[in-house]
Amino acid sequence: MKRTITIGLMSGTSLDGVDAVAVDFDEDRARFLGHAYLPFEPDLAQELASLCLPGDNEIDRMGRAALRLTERYAQTIESVLAQVGVDKSRVLAVGVHGQTIRHRPQWGWTLQLNNPADLAERLGLDVIADFRSRDMAAGGQGAPLVPAFHQCVFQSPTVSRTIVNIGGIANLTYLPAQDRPVIGFDCGPGNTLMDAWNLKHRSTPYDNDGAWGARGRVDFDLLNRLLSDPFFSAPYPKSTGREYFNLEWLARFAPCTAPENVQASLRELTAISIARAIQNDAPDTREVFVCGGGAFNRRLMQSLREALGGGATVSTTEALGIHPMHVEAMAFAWLARQFCLRRFGNLPDVTNARGKRILGALYPA
Ligand SMILES: Nc1ncnc2c1ncn2[C@@H]1O[C@H](COP(=O)(O)OP(=O)(O)O)[C@@H](O)[C@H]1O
Ligand SMILES: [Mg+2]
Repeated sequence: MKRTITIGLMSGTSLDGVDAVAVDFDEDRARFLGHAYLPFEPDLAQELASLCLPGDNEIDRMGRAALRLTERYAQTIESVLAQVGVDKSRVLAVGVHGQTIRHRPQWGWTLQLNNPADLAERLGLDVIADFRSRDMAAGGQGAPLVPAFHQCVFQSPTVSRTIVNIGGIANLTYLPAQDRPVIGFDCGPGNTLMDAWNLKHRSTPYDNDGAWGARGRVDFDLLNRLLSDPFFSAPYPKSTGREYFNLEWLARFAPCTAPENVQASLRELTAISIARAIQNDAPDTREVFVCGGGAFNRRLMQSLREALGGGATVSTTEALGIHPMHVEAMAFAWLARQFCLRRFGNLPDVTNARGKRILGALYPA
């Protein structure tokens, strides 16, 4: 039996849970087979969040959290396999991003919490993990890694497009119509600040549809001070995480307005920082496609349209045939396949690595 099915697994900075997809890559075309999502138990999400910042006894806590994480990963993978009804003998490999708890490109290292040996043992499948380290070893940012996949499935020969992934952090991929390099970088916070502020004031994981923030008024003084953070004006390549954009970061700007007004201002921060990144670095973009959970925040999507001022249409990747919550996990399925075929996974123009590299490490079945 030919092994053509690859499983991609993503758990991002939002710490909401795990997305797994099964993709059939026969003949080099990506055919989506199925998706499964399992949320994190609240105490696991909390422990993962606290591991993103320095704290006591981190090494023991990290080891234990990694095992809980891979148990959840294994459940999500078994769930997607059961759902699509494929036998493991048809699975080429599982590509597992892991849970980023530190990302330090300035110091040349990044850490995605994971226990791929445990995962290989539980699943009896080849597991490919640790995709970012090799790009960093070659002098790159180790991120973003999704642009090569975006280029493969979303680029148009006639119209310049930008794909915006609004997860915990927002990152974009500019896909020029003409033969110019693809650009990709993190443009700042996606949902992470809105989620954290919402959790603090309303004890729910996120502001459904942006409805709470929509009841607030934007505090333009606060917004402008937030936008003056040097990350936003720094040139790419650049990448960031929740170890930078978090409630301590927000507290430095001493917001002193009603909580819903802060939420509205955080929504505009996300929308405007994305729009400015597109206007500055991808100015001929005519079509913007959003993926990640932010695509479901209708108020945020409206703000993004307003911030772009009609220069480009804004829709979700659904319009291009891929559900917004499947894109990132599909990218890691694709990256795992690249590894198996000993093909490169990074775009040096994006990450600033010295060259193309095969990304990941194999934990055999
Ligand atoms: N209906 C919705 N309304 C508002 N925000 C949403 C909605 N659905 C998802 N989200 C946001 O999307 C986030 C999850 O997005 P995801 O792409 O999984 O991010 P990550 O890759 O960082 O895990 C949630 O934490 C939430 O902020
Ligand atoms: Mg997620």
